[in-house]
Amino acid sequence: MAKKPSPKKTPSSNSSPSKLTPTKKPISKSTTTKIPQKNPSQKPKTSVKPSQKKPIDNLTILKSSPYLKDSSKSQISKKQYTLKELFEKNLLSQQGEKMEIVLSGQYQDALDLMYEADASNLYPILVGPPGIGKTTLCRFYAQSRAEITGNDSFEWITFDESTKPAHLVGSFNPATTIQKGFSFEAFNPGPLIKAMLNGGVFLANEINRATEYTQNSLLEPLEEKTLAIPHIGRMKASPGFFFIGAMNPSELVGTHRLGEALKDRFNVWIELDYPDKKTEMKIIEHNNPYYKINEGTLEKIYLIINRTRTHHQIQTPASLRSGIALARLTGVAQKKVKKDPDKILGDIASNVLYGAIQTKPGVKANDVIKSIISQVVGSA
Ligand SMILES: Nc1ncnc2c1ncn2[C@@H]1O[C@H](COP(=O)(O)OP(=O)(O)OP(=O)(O)O)[C@@H](O)[C@H]1O
Ligand SMILES: [Mg+2]
Repeated sequence: MAKKPSPKKTPSSNSSPSKLTPTKKPISKSTTTKIPQKNPSQKPKTSVKPSQKKPIDNLTILKSSPYLKDSSKSQISKKQYTLKELFEKNLLSQQGEKMEIVLSGQYQDALDLMYEADASNLYPILVGPPGIGKTTLCRFYAQSRAEITGNDSFEWITFDESTKPAHLVGSFNPATTIQKGFSFEAFNPGPLIKAMLNGGVFLANEINRATEYTQNSLLEPLEEKTLAIPHIGRMKASPGFFFIGAMNPSELVGTHRLGEALKDRFNVWIELDYPDKKTEMKIIEHNNPYYKINEGTLEKIYLIINRTRTHHQIQTPASLRSGIALARLTGVAQKKVKKDPDKILGDIASNVLYGAIQTKPGVKANDVIKSIISQVVGSA
């Protein structure tokens, strides 16, 4: 077993504009739709049997992994693509895939509120701990909305300390500006102005990580639906512009407080917390489509994750991502080695949890993890 723990994940600080593909299908109230990148909903091209009689070696397991295969082919592609081909092949808008998520419990309620806010021309903000599904829900909402409006404009940015207003508005290309002056041709629009002009959805992810200076640049678009582009003029948003905020609760470290003026412009506060047992187990299963595990193991995974959330020595508990990681790793490991499933889970859990939790000062993560594992599956 590899003992090297991965470093603690911190929320992304990259700005990631994205677009979704329009689709004519009506929105389903059922619990799912397809997602571009993560793609958990796609049926595996190769069937993976839950129980294998013979243990499998590392090479075979890698060779048969659906994650290494081209989604359109059943085999690992050995073709070498040029960079241009890769751009064309991997462009999300060309892939036409739909997102699928679990919509039960708090997620359906949150989605309903987002529709209601949108319909009443109000701006919602999702608040919840890391990895609770805020971004997933927003992306799903943008896709569902595009099915109704035919407008697939969806832009987002993930704020951090270094995000400047110019990252939202856009900037002038220096070379073109020298030739043509501060003209429209020289301007590279930022995600906020694109969403405003297109009448699309803008997601301000981790909004409370932005500095006060950057937060203040959002006041005008939120109140007046206008935004000034230097040297060009003040733009008005097209009808349909919808601004969604998302953030971790402000008491968490590494975040600024949301300024009062900005706070006041969000009219619908949607709080998300760790989901109920049934919903979280569904989410774990949904994100582990290839290496199925039985119900008993799934429940133990949930119990391990859930105990990190009630443990008095843990400051930051495990998120949904840890449960998903545990399910995938356990599923693969069960194919590889003939061992008691509880033993497999116990061995793997420490590798997933080590960087996923943060203990209180003076408490060793390994000690807490060991005790949680042994409570759920016996001593690992
Ligand atoms: N309702 C859901 N259905 C299916 N999968 C979900 C759902 N909610 C969350 N997930 C999965 O959980 C993981 C974390 O979700 P997401 O990235 O949306 O969380 P987040 O709240 O935005 O986290 P952060 O605060 O770190 O940005 C993702 O892998 C996502 O696919
Ligand atoms: Mg997020």
